[in-house]
Amino acid sequence: MPWDRSEPAPPLRDWVQGRGVVGDGLRAVVVGCGLGADAEFVAGLGFQTVAFDVAPSAVRVAQNRHPGSAVDYRVADLLDLPGEWLDGFDLVVEIYTVQALPDPPRSSAVEGVRSLVAPGGTLFAVEFREDGESDSTSGPPYALSRGRMRSFAGEGLEEVEVTAIEGQRWRAVFRR
Ligand SMILES: C[S@@+](CC[C@H](N)C(=O)[O-])C[C@H]1O[C@@H](n2cnc3c(N)ncnc32)[C@H](O)[C@@H]1O
Repeated sequence: MPWDRSEPAPPLRDWVQGRGVVGDGLRAVVVGCGLGADAEFVAGLGFQTVAFDVAPSAVRVAQNRHPGSAVDYRVADLLDLPGEWLDGFDLVVEIYTVQALPDPPRSSAVEGVRSLVAPGGTLFAVEFREDGESDSTSGPPYALSRGRMRSFAGEGLEEVEVTAIEGQRWRAVFRR
């Protein structure tokens, strides 16, 4: 799989290092965590970290790769999130999940990601970039337009940045 990696996504690593992000016991969630590299990185920063994926096989591999991990790995669906997670996380990391989905349900997935951010919390997202007005119609991955990236904002979640970065990707940050 193209997302089989053991190192954190470089845009996440660079953002964290550039801002000196420290968890200090705050709560983080990694959406569509795949095989766990980003979740382990976030937990290593000191966040109490939940990481979930809809695929039980992904969660199983993530757990097997990281025995004794501090990460709470769960099988869960971004489109049907556990109620206790809503507004529940100080840091939400979403890398390449929304852009893996056709539309529908892409808009619902964006709403799901937004719903996880606690008051005062931050959403960090990375997706493949489409430079036109609309999301790409072929995929996955479905490269996302700037407008789609901006649509993570709403219901109190405000855009901090939506930035075109190397590798034809977006880095986006929002704060509630
Ligand atoms: C392209 S992979 C990216 C994985 C990981 N975020 C990474 O960057 O390595 C997309 C992931 O999203 C997961 N996924 C797709 N739909 C989902 C849903 N509705 N809820 C949770 N995870 C989902 C897939 O199982 C897959 O692991």
